[in-house]
Amino acid sequence: MKAIELTAPSLTAFRPTELPDPKPRHGEVLVRLRAAALNFVDVAIATGHFPGAGFPMIPVTDGAGEVAALGEGVSGWSVGDRVIPHFMPNWQGGAITPSNVAAMRGVTLPGSLAEYVAVPAASLVALPAHLDFVQGAALPIAATTAWNAVRSASTRPGSVVVLLGTGGVSIFALQFAKASGATVILASSSDEKLERARQLGADHLINYRATPAWDEEVLRLTEGRGADLVVETVGGQTIVRSLNAAAMGGTVFTVGFITGTTSSIDLLPIIVKALRIVGNNTGSVADLAQAARAIAANRIVPVIDRTFGIDETSAAYAELSAGGRHVGKIAIAH
Ligand SMILES: NC(=O)c1ccc[n+]([C@@H]2O[C@H](COP(=O)([O-])OP(=O)(O)OC[C@H]3O[C@@H](n4cnc5c(N)ncnc54)[C@H](OP(=O)(O)O)[C@@H]3O)[C@@H](O)[C@H]2O)c1
Repeated sequence: MKAIELTAPSLTAFRPTELPDPKPRHGEVLVRLRAAALNFVDVAIATGHFPGAGFPMIPVTDGAGEVAALGEGVSGWSVGDRVIPHFMPNWQGGAITPSNVAAMRGVTLPGSLAEYVAVPAASLVALPAHLDFVQGAALPIAATTAWNAVRSASTRPGSVVVLLGTGGVSIFALQFAKASGATVILASSSDEKLERARQLGADHLINYRATPAWDEEVLRLTEGRGADLVVETVGGQTIVRSLNAAAMGGTVFTVGFITGTTSSIDLLPIIVKALRIVGNNTGSVADLAQAARAIAANRIVPVIDRTFGIDETSAAYAELSAGGRHVGKIAIAH
């Protein structure tokens, strides 16, 4: 089969190659991959900032395709079914454990830049009927994380949700929060991106370049109450403002490390407002399945900023690592 290998932790070390077709073992399904979508973690792997990756490797955690063959003992799937393989195949449901997150496609297992991959049947989720392969490939990390974020605060009509930026996780969180009836306040670097967020349903828009104290603006917009949920997709630079923007009993769902993982924080807002600081490591196959069901039920269409060809893999990575040029997801079709 044709594949792209990443031969070293470098954004210029992608190499087209020919590899033997994988054979599905007992309980596995052979998937003909049709598309991949990039996450910040793929850039972290390709720049040597994520532990556990060995080189050469087939990169990209997230993908989608169709069932090409069934291994022995597989039931419930047929050749031709359109599927999304979850990138942590061992974590099928329940709480996070070390063994659940030990194996990751695109890190310790072959990723999505190959014609075929053999994966456990139990790690597959059906691609929602209204989505194409590129849109489906956008789901595993970003939609699962956004789904868990919105669920973590029992988001419902009247909830106030604050989102930072217009990247993959924030845009899915916007779509899930609006489907839940919440009021969404979204902060972004540019008015153009804010207009896009408005078209997707965001209720209040803050340009954090023009208004660096966006947390105070959240308090003003909510008449001092603050947000029930802040999805903290940025990291060290914004966590203090996120704590300030949260309402009493609110949740700060902490996932991002774009601006690093360290910060000096005052514990008092956490104590006095009885905040819930919820960490998250993407989620399980069951979480992805629930996110996909919500996407199907609400006819949510993932926002794909740009789709590159597989021979443009370096350019796709460069686009994501440039930071802040895209809205939603960057994909690779093959
Ligand atoms: N732990 C988990 O479960 C989990 C899962 C998924 C992702 N993540 C992490 O979450 C982060 C976001 O992921 P992603 O895929 O959504 O990334 P992304 O698509 O690259 O989006 C990042 C966006 O953040 C915004 N941003 C950057 N600096 C900002 C700042 N100072 N204040 C507000 N917004 C800022 C930018 O949007 P604007 O230009 O619109 O401002 C940028 O486009 C990454 O660190 C990723 O690794 C963690």
